[in-house]
Amino acid sequence: MNVLELMRVGPVIPVIIIDELAQAVPLAEALVAGGVKVLEVTLRTPVAIEAIRAISRQVEGAIVGVGTISRPEDFGQALDAGASFGVSPGLTPALIEAAGKSGLPLLPGVMTPSDVIAARAAGYTELKLFPAQQAGGIGMLKALGSPFPDVTFCPTGGVTAASAPEFLALPNVACVGGSWLTPRDAVTAGDWKKITALARETVGLRA
Ligand code: 3PG
Repeated sequence: MNVLELMRVGPVIPVIIIDELAQAVPLAEALVAGGVKVLEVTLRTPVAIEAIRAISRQVEGAIVGVGTISRPEDFGQALDAGASFGVSPGLTPALIEAAGKSGLPLLPGVMTPSDVIAARAAGYTELKLFPAQQAGGIGMLKALGSPFPDVTFCPTGGVTAASAPEFLALPNVACVGGSWLTPRDAVTAGDWKKITALARETVGLRA
């Protein structure tokens, strides 16, 4: 799947932090049970790569990707672990080169018009607006839509269950990202029913 196809699978891509490897498979299963298939596991904990490996091997229906890519070497280990896509909070020449060499579909982060121009020059027209709310939220996306009609965004950062529908109603937004589907207390407690319920609430968010 290319990035645009991945963005259209569901309205919300959960931004996931996994502290314990044993949480990975049940957490992913809980999200898939709630209808959320595209999962972004962030490289923010020591077990992240092994969590991606476990999910890609064991969770039927999950499309797992790697998030918080910030170093060129992140691509190789993510691919090796079975990641289907990558997400980065920003984009640099070194990341562009590494992404191209790896072939991993990448949803790169941008925050300014110059970032959009640079990403587009590198061939990326599907972009993560990050941090979306702090960058200007709905107003920013509307403003970017006029000069960049060929760009589709996944706003992430500060998006909530309450604000997601307004983002998703914008013509230049295909999906949103957020951590609210996987609250740390529920993950730590192994409250998978709660995660499934939160996932299920998002499925109908796109009008
Ligand atoms: C992140 O980097 O953690 C994501 O942008 C998620 O942000 P959120 O916690 O505000 O949803």
